[in-house]
Amino acid sequence: MSAALMAGPTTQEPLKTQQKCIAIFALLCCCAVLVVLIFSSVDIWGDDEDGITEENCSRDCSIVLTENIPDDLSLPTNGRHHLPLSAGFHTLLDQAKHSVEVVSPVWALNPWDLETTPSTAKQGQLLFQRLLSLKSRGIKLKIASSLTNSAELKTLAAHNAEVHFVNMTALTRGGLHSSFWIVDRKHIYIGSADMDWRSLSKRKELGVVVYNCSCLALDLHRVFSFYRQLHERDYIPSIWSKRVTALYGRHDALELQFNATEAAAYVSTSPEIFCAKDRTRDVDAIYQVIQSAKTFIFISVTDYLPLVSRSFRGTSVTRYWSPIDEVIREAVVLRGVRVRLLISFWKKTHPLTFNFVTSLKSLCMQLHNCSLEVRFFSHKEQDDDIQHGLNHNKYMVTDNTVYIGNHDWVGSDFAINSGVGLVVKMKNSLKDRGVTILEHAKAAFERDWRSRYAKSLHGNKGQQGKYRNLQQAKAHMESKEEKEWNNPL
Ligand SMILES: *[C@@H]1O[C@H](CO)[C@@H](O)[C@H](O)[C@H]1NC(C)=O
Ligand SMILES: *[C@@H]1O[C@H](CO)[C@@H](O)[C@H](O)[C@H]1NC(C)=O
Ligand SMILES: *[C@@H]1O[C@H](CO)[C@@H](O)[C@H](O)[C@H]1NC(C)=O
Ligand SMILES: *[C@@H]1O[C@H](CO)[C@@H](O)[C@H](O)[C@H]1NC(C)=O
Ligand SMILES: *[C@@H]1O[C@H](CO)[C@@H](O)[C@H](O)[C@H]1NC(C)=O
Repeated sequence: MSAALMAGPTTQEPLKTQQKCIAIFALLCCCAVLVVLIFSSVDIWGDDEDGITEENCSRDCSIVLTENIPDDLSLPTNGRHHLPLSAGFHTLLDQAKHSVEVVSPVWALNPWDLETTPSTAKQGQLLFQRLLSLKSRGIKLKIASSLTNSAELKTLAAHNAEVHFVNMTALTRGGLHSSFWIVDRKHIYIGSADMDWRSLSKRKELGVVVYNCSCLALDLHRVFSFYRQLHERDYIPSIWSKRVTALYGRHDALELQFNATEAAAYVSTSPEIFCAKDRTRDVDAIYQVIQSAKTFIFISVTDYLPLVSRSFRGTSVTRYWSPIDEVIREAVVLRGVRVRLLISFWKKTHPLTFNFVTSLKSLCMQLHNCSLEVRFFSHKEQDDDIQHGLNHNKYMVTDNTVYIGNHDWVGSDFAINSGVGLVVKMKNSLKDRGVTILEHAKAAFERDWRSRYAKSLHGNKGQQGKYRNLQQAKAHMESKEEKEWNNPL
């Protein structure tokens, strides 16, 4: 080659060889860059799935509804006794042999406020102590979180917990608001509660614990692996490891048994850019559940707001966000499905909530066989951050399906915050099956709906009057969102 170089461009043959050399060299460089790129974005070694695969995982599961009902709410139990949430967490920890994986938007099991009565904070502190003591039992604690400066996470990390930081600010400008547990890739929890002492005492929470269900746990674990792979990245890779693609979704749900009842289930996630290959979006899951309801849809969420706010070049732009709103309208007006919406009335209720639900209600005007009812759940004046008796539930139950999620039905939440949902569709018709999770969720909803804390819209006229001014409403929303990014609930 050096001879060719010295000979200069007058000799044709060596020049061709030189060009070939350069071409091959460039090609090699490209390949090397590609390989590096692929290896850096795809965790080809993954982490082992304990030898359990989709072929031999367990589908013979049991499921329990778990709730936290604050002491100062008097709700009739109707003889039904749901597993208290703290007992649910302790049972999961009792079963753990190898690993406990936890995702939570908040880590505040020990109250920040020293004046809190010790008895109400006790459950949170107890749970924190048990998480700390996992190390001595040889059980690995793994956590994914978007919190940058959590004292509790630091303490857990010092006790051998593996904490994966997901920089949500860089990825979506939102928060990692998912809330779930996976124990030994076998048992799971999904629900409204956070790792917050208020979730175990002051707030009303609802979720499910599923035991002996490695198929479902395997799939939820892939969501966890997804967060793990985002550890300290500030972009979402375009190529993903196979270990994070969804196993089940709305078109191919997992067929399984819950307490010997035939059912189909899958896990959904949000936001959209967090949906790895084949993963169903939360919004699509909700859409499908509402669309397949035949007789009733009961919805219990803290906030309902079909708006999405995004900051665009430094200014906040708010838009109408229709997917859930429109599918509810269709169900009510065109299919005659009875809809009940139970929303919390609390200090962060967005004033436009009343306008949107009044609009929904007015659909049934002068229509036979049309029923859409809205009630607001409120306990005490919410003037502090304790959230006494706040209905923090985020679920829906229909005549054939239960959906339990992490998000309130607020457009912005689905757009920027991470969350997961669990869809459980019962196979047989209502009368052919025994008492199932669906009846339990329905009973919980009806208990709340009929309680003295659920008031219909008319009672809130005065509150509506407070916020006639839309500008004021917008300002309220923006400040609320800013606050939520810094201090998610
Ligand atoms: C499940 O299948 C995998 C691979 O086919 C195998 O390695 C593993 O031992 C099996 N696990 C159980 C519990 O049977
Ligand atoms: C998260 O990403 C943002 C934007 O890229 C960056 O400014 C910030 O330092 C990152 N935070 C951490 C803790 O790495
Ligand atoms: C889970 O399966 C094990 C072994 O088959 C059984 O002993 C245990 O009772 C089951 N747990 C629940 C909650 O059903
Ligand atoms: C109301 O709608 C339901 C569901 O479509 C239907 O089964 C029922 O017959 C309707 N009732 C009346 C009075 O139209
Ligand atoms: C399912 O079985 C578990 C354990 O036996 C029980 O605690 C739970 O209440 C049952 N769930 C339903 C929905 O019947």
